[in-house]
Amino acid sequence: MRLRNCHNFHDFRSMAKQRLPRPIFNYIDGAAEDEVTYRRNRAAFDDCDLVPNVLRGVSNVDMSVTVMGQKLAMPVYCSPTALQRLFHHQGERAVAAAAAKHGTMFGVSSLGTVSLEETRQISNGPQVYQFYFHKDRGLNREMMARAKQAGVEVMMLTVDSITGGNRERDKRTGFAIPFKLNLAGIAQFAIKPSWAINYYTHEQFRLPQLDSHVDMGGGVMSISRYFTEMLDPSMSWDDVAEMVQHWSGQFCLKGIMSVEDARRAVEIGCTGIVLSNHGGRQLDGSRTAFDQLAEIVDAVGDRIDVMMDGGVQRGTHVLKALSLGAKAVGLGRYYLFPLAAAGQAGVERSLELMHIEIERGMKLMGCTSVSELKRRNLRFRQ
Ligand code: LAC
Repeated sequence: MRLRNCHNFHDFRSMAKQRLPRPIFNYIDGAAEDEVTYRRNRAAFDDCDLVPNVLRGVSNVDMSVTVMGQKLAMPVYCSPTALQRLFHHQGERAVAAAAAKHGTMFGVSSLGTVSLEETRQISNGPQVYQFYFHKDRGLNREMMARAKQAGVEVMMLTVDSITGGNRERDKRTGFAIPFKLNLAGIAQFAIKPSWAINYYTHEQFRLPQLDSHVDMGGGVMSISRYFTEMLDPSMSWDDVAEMVQHWSGQFCLKGIMSVEDARRAVEIGCTGIVLSNHGGRQLDGSRTAFDQLAEIVDAVGDRIDVMMDGGVQRGTHVLKALSLGAKAVGLGRYYLFPLAAAGQAGVERSLELMHIEIERGMKLMGCTSVSELKRRNLRFRQ
């Protein structure tokens, strides 16, 4: 399988699967427990249909949006995701460069493998810093100061990971960071030599957002243990209100799912919320962001920017979310499989395909700007 034969999410996923050691592929591809929410994320988009208008003069389509004060050339952004250099040696550098090329925003994770300062130099587009709330409050303040200093535009606090999701695929393979695998997992590296050569001939694996602050237990800690041991389960609305004040800039909460919480996010001065179930990786059985969009947009959409992520694989999925009132849509696995498959060229190609699909979809819907995408263009099946 080659990059030029990748035409959609499934093609990139197959190419990534060929290239990656199985435990790493399963870390990206997997989700919590029975993966019901993971499957539902994708399926939710099929429960509603687009109703196009025609003969509207659609020679010039403008798909740009402004979200949390940032102008994006396209209504999708690369959500922050962890451990990208495990997937391809270019890691976050590739994602930052590809996002810049397409004029969009990208996120760097607390569990990122390239420093937020370095990615800031690579992209001149808006950068999000994804933040976890650690037990050590001093660490939290220091991480925010560092992000401010680097010129990060948007602070994004993940609020759905107060404890680790039950990811059974990772349990089976023994997947841990930076690296620990059970024997079956280790055998995989021998049969994926090109991945192993790349990995071992590039700079050593690090977590530069954290490594000066956190002892990763001699170098090995599972994602689930990191969440459970390092993050503060007592985190409350008062704590976050303080952070929002302290940051005094664009601040959004990722992982809001209820109207009640969306209202509280407005009350404490957040400028954005991302409706998300963490790609189905945390609470299995959770409702999808897409299914929650309308009621949350109705409740708070005039006071805060509402975004969503989860299961987005097509331009038409984006059109459906925008029609319900999302200001922008986050991509996760959608760009991670291309990263694993072909590095920066892969991420660029996947964003290019998304751009083409959104443009084509808007033309076929009879829309020349995102503001013309309305609920009246959607019908839900019962
Ligand atoms: C995950 C965390 C690290 O989903 O965001 O694996």
